[in-house]
Amino acid sequence: MWCRNILRTRAIINNSATSICLQRFAKNQRHLNDIMSGHSIRLTSSARECTIGDVIDKWSRRFESEGIPEPVESIEHIVAHIIGTEKIIDILNVRNDRLSASQIEKLESLCECRLSRMPVQYIIGEWDFRDITVKLVPPIFIPRPETEILVDFVLKRLNSSQVENCEILEIGCGSGAISLALAHACKKIKCTAIDMNLHACELTTTNRNNLNLANQIMVMHATLTPDANIEISSILNGTGNVDLNSRLFDFVISNPPYVPTKDISRLQPEIKIYEDLRALDGGDDGLKVIKPLLKYAAKTLKPGGRLFLEVDPIHPEYIHFFTNKYSDLKLHHEHTYKDFCNYDRFVEIVKVT
Ligand SMILES: C[S@@+](CC[C@H](N)C(=O)[O-])C[C@H]1O[C@@H](n2cnc3c(N)ncnc32)[C@H](O)[C@@H]1O
Repeated sequence: MWCRNILRTRAIINNSATSICLQRFAKNQRHLNDIMSGHSIRLTSSARECTIGDVIDKWSRRFESEGIPEPVESIEHIVAHIIGTEKIIDILNVRNDRLSASQIEKLESLCECRLSRMPVQYIIGEWDFRDITVKLVPPIFIPRPETEILVDFVLKRLNSSQVENCEILEIGCGSGAISLALAHACKKIKCTAIDMNLHACELTTTNRNNLNLANQIMVMHATLTPDANIEISSILNGTGNVDLNSRLFDFVISNPPYVPTKDISRLQPEIKIYEDLRALDGGDDGLKVIKPLLKYAAKTLKPGGRLFLEVDPIHPEYIHFFTNKYSDLKLHHEHTYKDFCNYDRFVEIVKVT
């Protein structure tokens, strides 16, 4: 997948490149507006004569020459989106087909978006996560492939436990990918998904409804505060008296903001220009949200309950130290798991009795 390990890519972006991207971003907005309002964009005759194979070859070369990451995958995803096929592998079978004038018009506009470093996921408006597809809208965080590993560990733990109905709290749901993939995979799961960003909560609710998971997922606009409480602003499509500071859960899961602030400026333009940096920025040491999360989990987990976190590779050691130092929290750091690149990226913590 083209975005694999996008977070770990630390390309240093110089100011002039960033300014070109920003100019292109502004130009793009006009292109997207043109598409939305149905204004036509003049086509060249050569564009009209192109086969899908020609289009892919032309744009992958252009993307490559302009330094766009994953040039071939980028154009293949865009073409797949234009012709309405779900899998880019199917494109191999249609390389000799021709696109209509309106398809070429739309494709060229979307390719301009890619030239301005807009992530493909935002351009096509959706992405696969495990066995579900979620709608994506900028600037809500794009779910990363490594987070599928976190979901796998949670499901494995659930399958080996005796829990009948598993009550899960996800802190910082973004597009809803984690909670939705869990609920989709296991009917005995009930998730409460919270995010401090109202737009993220609305996107999670849309994705939940598209996947028919409303009976398993409750979405709340709520914030984990630095003093380890949860302040609820609203429950989306729901009512009731819910107090997340007294309720108990079997599992708490989070992929919190954990990138140390000093590393944010070195992220790829795709991330810096288009994604909400509050979803990534974990403060000076990357632990701004992780520390209250540990304290909150100590209050809200049932005895034997578990906290699953995605973190930066520098964090598991600190988390181990923290749980040992604050033994009154009764948290035991049980496992650290590795990601695709063999970095320590996921921790599993148990609330001891
Ligand atoms: C790295 S994103 C993860 C999104 C999603 N869970 C995923 O893995 O694709 C972190 C999310 O946490 C939310 N967030 C950050 N700080 C928060 C806080 N203190 N309370 C609640 N949500 C928070 C952000 O708005 C963002 O949507």
